[in-house]
Amino acid sequence: QHAAGPGAGGGAVDTRRTPPSLLWPEFERDPYPLYRRLREEFPVVRDEPLDAWLVSRYADVRIALTDSRFTSRNYGWQLAPMFGRTVLQMDGREHAAHRAFLTPAFRGRALARLTESIERSAAALAAPLRDRDEADLVAGFCNRFPISVVVTALGLPAEDAPLFQDWYRAGFSYLGNYRQDPATLARGLSSRDELYAYLAPFVRERRARPADDLLSVLCEAEVDGAPLPDEMIMGFCGTLLGAGGETTDKSLSSLLRSLLDDPELLAAVRDEPGLATRAWAESLRRDPPVQVVLRQTAGTAELPSGRIPAGATVACLVGAANRDPERFSDPDRFDPFRTDGAVEREFTGAATHLAFGAGRHFCLGARLAQAEVEIGVRVLLETLPTLRWAPDFAPSETGLLTRAPARLLVATS
Ligand code: HEM
Repeated sequence: QHAAGPGAGGGAVDTRRTPPSLLWPEFERDPYPLYRRLREEFPVVRDEPLDAWLVSRYADVRIALTDSRFTSRNYGWQLAPMFGRTVLQMDGREHAAHRAFLTPAFRGRALARLTESIERSAAALAAPLRDRDEADLVAGFCNRFPISVVVTALGLPAEDAPLFQDWYRAGFSYLGNYRQDPATLARGLSSRDELYAYLAPFVRERRARPADDLLSVLCEAEVDGAPLPDEMIMGFCGTLLGAGGETTDKSLSSLLRSLLDDPELLAAVRDEPGLATRAWAESLRRDPPVQVVLRQTAGTAELPSGRIPAGATVACLVGAANRDPERFSDPDRFDPFRTDGAVEREFTGAATHLAFGAGRHFCLGARLAQAEVEIGVRVLLETLPTLRWAPDFAPSETGLLTRAPARLLVATS
């Protein structure tokens, strides 16, 4: 399937002249050298094994994300069969209508209300870590915290968060199943069916008696005078486990890794929690949790670095764009104090890094994620004041479409 990769041992194909394919196993191990080759030699190129076009330079990715010649209709090879069409796969008027009723649910009063429960979830998850000598912050905290926030935001019982955890683990890893493995697909679909069976009575209940939560916003929403079908509401809830859970989980893991790698910075963040926000913005730039955002060309599309034919799937390589030296100086370096764009503006609004996307589909949950990360880091540092790497532990990142350290083994006492 990926015979052209350098990992395939060379063979008949001269890999120095072959554009890298996302299906090469090297991408999963360490994509950054390959991103660099793409940016330098093949900035807009067809990935034949994947049947998609790869775009890697900052300037090109930004245009592909924001220009309406690049549609979201076909977003995700995997999301559509799993959760049907949600806001991520919409364009034009329909997309604007969904953003209009969703946006207030992620801002202002709704966000302020959530902050209290975020604080409670963080404290409840951090406390048990204190009682051990060593803990894995990924399994013990990062994997669980953002999903519990999604469950609370939807207005579902907080004590059911572990169920979501199980569905997510069992099935929705399917979302990263870019190789379309049928067994993973089948597991994903059966978890989806369980999730929908769980959600259906809550949807009925909120239609009859709306409350002050995101599920009620979805149940009360109307587009062109018609309420959203149940399936669309439940599909959006499922999408949020990935869009709001997995992303924030990975973002927090990558930030913690960078802080643990730099004990001086970690100490500075402990003394001045506002610094965590700067460090987070830089972590989102250098190690974006969502590495690839997909689009499809409506007609032939001309980018500064090349042309893509009509009807093509376009993989916007956010991980490559965020390390483009044309845009960020010394891009592999983690520098929360950089002044060339990652953090000089309020990053949740007009971010110059592309970790939250750009344009019409800019992440709806960016401010919520910010609250989670700020509170999560503060609570962890308060609860575990001597936090440092466990002896002899070396973290390593994994993942292709989304990417983060697999484990963060720390000494907590
Ligand atoms: C959209 C990343 C947290 C909900 C997006 C997009 C990206 C992204 C790249 C754009 C996709 C596109 O252009 O097609 C992230 C990252 C996060 C994060 C890196 C954490 C650090 C969250 C949270 C939520 C959320 C906490 C909600 C609970 C959404 C939704 C969209 C979206 C609903 C779709 C917006 C649209 O299509 O108009 N996110 N996200 N995200 N995100 Fe996030």
